[in-house]
Amino acid sequence: MKEGYRLHAGFLSGEETDRWRRRLDSRREVFKAVGGRGGLNLRYSVIDGHRSREHFPELVELARTRLREAAEEAVGQPLVPIRDEKRSLRIQLYGGRHEGFRWHLDVSSYSALLTLANTSRGATEVISPRLTRLLVPLYYPFYPLRQLFSALPHRTIHSAPGDLLILHGSAVLHRARALADEGERLVVVAVFEPAGSKPTPVRDWLARTFNY
Ligand SMILES: [Fe+2]
Repeated sequence: MKEGYRLHAGFLSGEETDRWRRRLDSRREVFKAVGGRGGLNLRYSVIDGHRSREHFPELVELARTRLREAAEEAVGQPLVPIRDEKRSLRIQLYGGRHEGFRWHLDVSSYSALLTLANTSRGATEVISPRLTRLLVPLYYPFYPLRQLFSALPHRTIHSAPGDLLILHGSAVLHRARALADEGERLVVVAVFEPAGSKPTPVRDWLARTFNY
């Protein structure tokens, strides 16, 4: 993954995508609105890994099998879900332009992002691995000002329902953004690390503190 990502268009059939979307749509009350953090982050809604296991065990199984296999193929090495069960699977719902995820680096290496609905022209924007390496020393010191990264060259990856995006999220700065004012984007995010990785308590703490 030279550019830090791979997009599988049409990973799920239209029928499968609709089935998952309807199942999640019927349980809107399980989503929890998060974000804000004094203006540091944007808002969005989420079902974390614990609640996903409780309410949508089949989706957790899909992540553990087909999403993991697709990620392994893209990355070229065996992967396992990260140890932190709360963060290893997240179902995220973004509204229009006012919701999303600002520029950030993931603490865990790889994510598989499965889009199930997208009526907000929601996209993932990615800064190249090379430019990201140059920016890393500025990332935490300038965290509140990281919107400035938008002025740098980046790619906009559009994901239609059923598309799967494999992202090397610890190697490329990225953000989730809606290009339309209204509508929403529903994404299942499964997070993986290379099999045999050592525990990283400090990085896990950073993830909990900064990202969610
Ligand atoms: Fe991320």
